[in-house]
Amino acid sequence: MAYITVIPGDGIGVDVTAEAVKVLRAAAAAFRFPLELEELDYGAERYLRTGETFPAPVLEKIRTGSDAVLLGAVGDPRVPDMTHAREILFGLRFGLDLYINLRPVRCLHPSLLPLRDRRPEDVDMMFFRENTEGLYVNVGGIFKKGTEHEVAINEDLNTRHGVERIIRAAFEWARVHKRRKVTMADKSNALRYAHDLWVRTFAEVGKEYQDLEQEHLFVDALAMQMIRKPQDYDVVVTCNMFGDILTDLGAALQGGLGIAGSGNIHPGKVSMFEPVHGSAPKYAGKDVANPLAAILTVGMLLDHVGQPAAADAVEGAVKAALAQGKVPKDLGGTLGTRAMGDFVAELVARTN
Ligand code: NAD
Ligand code: IPM
Ligand code: MN
Repeated sequence: MAYITVIPGDGIGVDVTAEAVKVLRAAAAAFRFPLELEELDYGAERYLRTGETFPAPVLEKIRTGSDAVLLGAVGDPRVPDMTHAREILFGLRFGLDLYINLRPVRCLHPSLLPLRDRRPEDVDMMFFRENTEGLYVNVGGIFKKGTEHEVAINEDLNTRHGVERIIRAAFEWARVHKRRKVTMADKSNALRYAHDLWVRTFAEVGKEYQDLEQEHLFVDALAMQMIRKPQDYDVVVTCNMFGDILTDLGAALQGGLGIAGSGNIHPGKVSMFEPVHGSAPKYAGKDVANPLAAILTVGMLLDHVGQPAAADAVEGAVKAALAQGKVPKDLGGTLGTRAMGDFVAELVARTN
């Protein structure tokens, strides 16, 4: 039995999650595993109505009763300070200690490749973004707010434990999946203390993985190289902030945010899966958002809950849709959000 908590969230999060759930149900039926879904309406609408963001007992219930969470996206222009979005998203990432933000950057069809003189198979990277530390911990504060002497501080918090576990996760994954190289990207030339910890930890942990090629790059250089020579990059590990930025760049290499899925993972524990994209408010409710990122995210979720055959079927169905040119507008096709979801769900239903 798979117990999945579904949080559609805001904007197009709602639209794409409905299609991802269709595909999830189709996979459960085709691969004959029982599935229980519980949908929660945390998001801007509820926050504006009740003042609730993401209550602690709800997190506790997820921790003890769920196998995984499927999240759409959070963020709404009616909540300009993003309070609810941060509390929901970081509530899950930090609250469940989901230290691996796993973001595949793969180009699944030649028509999606934005680069000249490259083949789609040249874009095949797996990002390990640290997901519980760095600049995202919101340690800091504001002093003399609103004056000309205002001081604003966000500390970049890096612990040996946190840095080591994400680096180790990247090496382990690379070994298990028979990949050739692990690249670590940091900014240790400028950030002497925090990123020196990354350099030393990468070198030390790397000694246990002599079977893998190991490389260190400054993050600005990696951003450039991902465009120039994507084929040189395989498994990439980096800090929270750089991982956020590089994976939007990575999304562009795979066809756009409409097709980039991701997982927030703590191996062996309840984990959370969400597309890389946000709530794109201007497209909300218009049947135009691409649900493929959310659908590929469901594939990753299925892997995590012990249904690898169903996961493969979901990815296979997305590839088949791409091969047939059955894609939404952002990928050059004509399908609306719902028609795209129906098409993939139907292919999944027929796979087994
Ligand atoms: P965004 O990802 O929502 O959208 C940026 C642009 O990418 C869109 O205007 C659109 O052109 C395109 N796009 C994104 N997803 C698409 C899809 N599925 N189909 C077709 N086109 C798509 O980023 P943003 O505009 O910077 O942020 C909007 C809101 O979402 C903000 O409040 C932001 O904080 C939030 N956000 C949330 C998450 C999350 O919940 N995980 C992630 C990123 C951004
Ligand atoms: C992402 C998003 C989030 C992040 C935002 C909404 C806080 O951009 O999941 O990539 O920076 O992690
Ligand atoms: Mn992002």
